[in-house]
Amino acid sequence: MDGAAELVFCVNGRKVIEKNVDPETMLLPYLRKKLQLTGTKYGCGGGGCGACTVMISRYNPITKRIRHYPANACLLPICSLHGAAVTTVEGVGSTKARIHPVQERVAKCHGTQCGFCTPGMVMSIYTLLRNHPEPTLDQLTDALGGNLCRCTGYRPIIDACKTFCKTSGCCQSKENGVCCLDQGINELPEFEEGNKTSPKLFSEEEFLPLDPTQELIFPPELMIMAEKQPQRTRVFVGDRMTWISPVTLKELLEAKVKYPQAPIVMGNTSVGPEVRFKGTFHPVIISPDCIEELSVVNHADDGLTLGAGLSLAQVKEILAEVIQKLPEEKTQTYHAVWKHLGTLAGCQIRNMASLGGHIVSRHLDSDLNPLLAVGNCTLNLLSKEGERQIPLNEQFLTKCPSADLKPGEILVSVNIPYSRKWEFVSAFRQAQRQQNALAIVNSGMRVFFGEGGGIIRELSIAYGGVGPTTICAKNSCQQLIGRPWNEEMLDAACRLILDEVSLPGWAPGGKVEFKRTLVISFFFKFYLKVSQILKTMDPVRYPGLADKYESALEDLHSRNHWGTSKYQDVDPKQLPQDPIGRPIMHLSGIKHTTGEAIYCDDMPVLDGELFLAFVTSSRAHAEIVSIDLSEALSLPGVVDIVTEEDLRGVNSFCLLIEPEKLLETQEVSCVGQLVCAVVADSEVQAKRAAKRVKIVYQDLEPVILTIEEAIRHHSFFQGERKLEYGNVDEAFKVVDQILEGEIHMGGQEHFYMETQSMLAVPKGEDQEMDVYVSSQFPKYIQAIVASTLKVPANKIMCHVKRLGGAFGGKVTKTGILAAITAFAANKHGRPVRCILERGEDMLITGGRHPYLGKYKAGFMNDGRILALDVEHYCNGGATLDESLFVLETGVLKVDNAYKFPNLRCQGWACKTNLPSNTALRGFGFPQSGLITENCITEVAAKCGLSPEKVRMMNMYKEIDQTPYKQEIDATNLIQCWKECMATSSYSLRKVAVEKFNSENYWKKKGLAMVPLKFPVGFGSTAACQAAALVHIYLDGSVLVTHGGIEMGQGVHTKMIQVASRELRMPMSNVHLRGTSTETVPNANVSGASLVADLNGLAVKDACQTLLKRLEPIISKNPKGTWKDWAQAAFDESISLSATGYFRGYETHMNWETGEGHPFAYFVFGAACSEVEIDCLTGAHKNIRTDIVMDIGHSINPALDVGQIEGAFIQGMGLYTIEELKYSPQGVLFTRGPDQYKIPAVSDVPTELHVSFLPPSQNSNTLYSSKGLGEPGVFLGCSVFFAIHDAVRAARQERGLLGPLKLDSPLTPEKIRMACEDKFTKMIPRDEPGSYVPWNIPV
Ligand SMILES: Cc1cc2nc3c(=O)[nH]c(=O)nc-3n(C[C@H](O)[C@H](O)[C@H](O)COP(=O)(O)OP(=O)(O)OC[C@H]3O[C@@H](n4cnc5c(N)ncnc54)[C@H](O)[C@@H]3O)c2cc1C
Ligand code: FES
Ligand code: FES
Repeated sequence: MDGAAELVFCVNGRKVIEKNVDPETMLLPYLRKKLQLTGTKYGCGGGGCGACTVMISRYNPITKRIRHYPANACLLPICSLHGAAVTTVEGVGSTKARIHPVQERVAKCHGTQCGFCTPGMVMSIYTLLRNHPEPTLDQLTDALGGNLCRCTGYRPIIDACKTFCKTSGCCQSKENGVCCLDQGINELPEFEEGNKTSPKLFSEEEFLPLDPTQELIFPPELMIMAEKQPQRTRVFVGDRMTWISPVTLKELLEAKVKYPQAPIVMGNTSVGPEVRFKGTFHPVIISPDCIEELSVVNHADDGLTLGAGLSLAQVKEILAEVIQKLPEEKTQTYHAVWKHLGTLAGCQIRNMASLGGHIVSRHLDSDLNPLLAVGNCTLNLLSKEGERQIPLNEQFLTKCPSADLKPGEILVSVNIPYSRKWEFVSAFRQAQRQQNALAIVNSGMRVFFGEGGGIIRELSIAYGGVGPTTICAKNSCQQLIGRPWNEEMLDAACRLILDEVSLPGWAPGGKVEFKRTLVISFFFKFYLKVSQILKTMDPVRYPGLADKYESALEDLHSRNHWGTSKYQDVDPKQLPQDPIGRPIMHLSGIKHTTGEAIYCDDMPVLDGELFLAFVTSSRAHAEIVSIDLSEALSLPGVVDIVTEEDLRGVNSFCLLIEPEKLLETQEVSCVGQLVCAVVADSEVQAKRAAKRVKIVYQDLEPVILTIEEAIRHHSFFQGERKLEYGNVDEAFKVVDQILEGEIHMGGQEHFYMETQSMLAVPKGEDQEMDVYVSSQFPKYIQAIVASTLKVPANKIMCHVKRLGGAFGGKVTKTGILAAITAFAANKHGRPVRCILERGEDMLITGGRHPYLGKYKAGFMNDGRILALDVEHYCNGGATLDESLFVLETGVLKVDNAYKFPNLRCQGWACKTNLPSNTALRGFGFPQSGLITENCITEVAAKCGLSPEKVRMMNMYKEIDQTPYKQEIDATNLIQCWKECMATSSYSLRKVAVEKFNSENYWKKKGLAMVPLKFPVGFGSTAACQAAALVHIYLDGSVLVTHGGIEMGQGVHTKMIQVASRELRMPMSNVHLRGTSTETVPNANVSGASLVADLNGLAVKDACQTLLKRLEPIISKNPKGTWKDWAQAAFDESISLSATGYFRGYETHMNWETGEGHPFAYFVFGAACSEVEIDCLTGAHKNIRTDIVMDIGHSINPALDVGQIEGAFIQGMGLYTIEELKYSPQGVLFTRGPDQYKIPAVSDVPTELHVSFLPPSQNSNTLYSSKGLGEPGVFLGCSVFFAIHDAVRAARQERGLLGPLKLDSPLTPEKIRMACEDKFTKMIPRDEPGSYVPWNIPV
């Protein structure tokens, strides 16, 4: 084998030659660290988030065609890139050269907030446009399926994309043959012209046109290289690994003989994650490069032969063509495979992953293998001994040695036979999320009847997700042969299949009963589908289905999204240059899209920099018997391991009520607790060494994980919270009915796209240190670092440019991580960087508190609730953190929008052996509100009324008092409710939903509307103080600094708007560099929706001070410029710098008396959602959501709509699909986007309409605006209750009229199991306690 140790590829048109490449290097760190192209981001490292998307272009010298495709740089070994052209976001456009239309439109359509996902989004859209300059909306949403965004809720990104479509602006759903543009919103009249509302947040007219001729061309040099250079095997030898890239089949076989254990890496989407997350190590990797035989596409008489090296995306394209060309009866299998390829992973993975890699990996949840198995596919193998064919059958799938590849063998191609007349093939899958989510269960099914008779001649059924690999229900199929396709056969089949495909109660992955149900529900769907086709083929012989049952067959998911935003235009009298109230783009919008916006880990590596990696506890409650650091310390590059011993005397810090320890080497109280920290000269070495630290534990009792266990053990943090109003006990005596119930709500992961990041830089003199950190609370970072280093705060400066999302998760734990990092930096006098991996981040940092709400409601038969007694229990985890404040907030907000004349609410924070839970957007309200709304829904059911009627009846009306005796004017609450009723056409749609439900048995719709009263404030005046510093320079330019953190919400943009209005100067004259303890000291935490409110008042104050000083100068020379005035002021010795201050809202709360004025004001709103559910699979689709909000006078409607929509989608995720899973031993299973599903682009409501009430005065706030960061999260529960409504309809039809208890999140599993039917009755149930489940709800 000839060695050619030179790796040649291009990045953004520039040639890269690597002589000594390390085969273990992935493209992502190479781009970021080696080439300093930091636009490409790290979000998960496993192909699941899309933050690292780049475009790969390859030239094929045989076809002379260039293929452009999106890929995840985190899974791309650079050795696989020989001859390829890589385009990163920097190569697409930049502010220094030219901005690309994609970048411009995503920014100007407000498609960025924190901006961390944005380069990946841009690259996905850009690549699509390179291939399809005028894509369809389907292609666009498909292209974005592999990209996650935690901030925007995707709607504005979709809007930006739509501007490239031919039919831009149209929903493209021609239901009833009428387009949305012709009929208005859901048949409602369109916005009236001239009513001062402005439905557009951006202006399409100003967009740069897309000109495909302007794009970077494929580097001619690479083309020549591909054409001319003799191809020979390349070998790259690294420290630990050798990479062999054969270029002919012969060389590939030789390599395989020489290294039979070496994997053949194609897309690396299976091998890569195993290496990264499971610690698998391969000393040799064989990666074939452009071997023609592996890309064959051959149409033969018996079927289609596809090369094993074709990517799944290529397979999808080929099948689409074949399906078009051939008669339907021949393409049954192709159609089913094509359908699954539409939902398999995201676009990037489908373009990287190969057909051969997919088949040979034999993942238990493989989508294609069940189908290929039932489709009678054969695998064409090759070895030095020759060719051979093996069937892709159960033996192969279970890796039975006699049916498997032999060590020297490779898979060359796959033969997929044509289907025959009277043969039907179908694919089924159900996942936690519609797109880019591994299936919980999937299946391939095939039946062959032969000519006439409707008698089963052949039947094949295979399942994924229900065993260690794909499982075939072979015996069941065998026994059904010869039977007619009728109800009796169906019944027998279900029983046989359940018997054969059995799952124990403890099966890995959990959801056992759901899986059992899916297994037969899928078969039922197949039965119905085949029956329907038989009917169309021979209506005389096959009468087919009742119309009511046909609904089981239709797909739920439409991909055509559209939305509107309605906000009030500014007063025409407002000065044109005054930006307040206008939809100004996020200040960093363009930089987000070009990748030029700098985040903490984008800062260049400093001289002598070290990396810190944490070692965490693997036990929930244990004594640490010993820690052996020797092996870790002996690894090359390891500089130190920081332990509790090092931190003696400074190992704890008290931020709130209780001090928290930094490192723990005595007794651990949760999995993920920080034990020690390895410091090494590279990230790779630090992480390798961290794995070599050996800890011996002695388990301790008790291990308390769940709220119920905490209640049993009376394990609570000190400080029960109680609120009482009226006389609850007396009221219970006079009510018509009393209802008791409870609801459990799971927690939520922040899933900010940028993981915890920090860089501590000792300054070398006077013990000074700069800490660059992704934190919402620089003052706290400064304080904890100063305390750990035993220096005064004035030596430690904390700097925050921007965060890639935070949502409350970058406060408390960040401080502890930063303190340890700073300690290491100080100890070694060298900069130390610490960036958590996604899995570590999810494990260590906790999230939203799981809740248990118990309630007792006393009500009259007409729905009036006279007494409510509620108990809240939150799962606080191992340390107090912010649990008490979260609990307090939940108790204070328990009334949501309702006047309960007699109310008692008590709350306890449970102390458990889980990582400590903390603040997350909404801070207790999303849980508390859900408990209250669930109670109302139950009351409504008891009274036989609609929940909306009971809601309205009990709502605050006009001026009233909250349970803590704060005055509330609810006029706008009622207005929001009424407006939402009207804009959503609630009554009409309620009737339509009922009609739909009466006509469809297996699909149900649900409609629900919830009101919102979100009290805003911190409960203390001091916590609401804010400061700013404004300088005017002699050229007239202005620099603003304030204490708020930019985490995507656009606070810096709003602050510049404020300065621009106050100083009456254009926004372009004002700059903002970031937040630092050096410029604004002692700033409060950025959170609680108040960042712009409070800091804006401080900026306003500073600007007014300056203007006052300058007024005499300006009036002397009114036509002068700011340069003239600044110079004149300087000449007259007038200070051009001013601090601004806001002392905080007058808020207080006395828990002794239960009275106070804890909130500054209330945000009101309402949301109405309509969903459709599939009763057989538990899938749901949000068809439409209407949101109406009272936001006072918006400072920036584009940013405000963004906050509302983003929060709503985050809330929707919380209440429906985001599910944290813990083992019975307290280990968090869900540690990445592959296991934990936040909403993706496919989850956006098909229609989303957001509108604001006309502006109202809110005297004590900044320009009468209101804080909007958090309130929208709760509105996500309108989807929860819409699903609830749909499930209730299903149950009613099935005669199940009793109470309905549904916990949150309302996942496909819960939906399916609640829609009880003959299938859920058929499955075996395990006796609780007879097995140890895989996971437990906490
Ligand atoms: C984020 C993400 C999401 C995913 N989502 C889904 C999903 O929704 N549904 C689903 O079904 N799958 C999903 N997958 C799995 C994915 O389909 C597989 O990882 C992929 O198909 C493997 O192909 P590859 O080319 O990347 O394999 P590689 O990782 O390159 O190789 C995998 C294995 O195949 C062997 N191999 C490869 N080619 C040959 C050959 N020609 N001859 C012999 N052996 C060979 C290798 O030796 C190796 O052991 C997902 C994966 C990721 C990372
Ligand atoms: S970082 Fe590559 S997909 Fe998440
Ligand atoms: S803007 Fe998408 S993750 Fe923040």
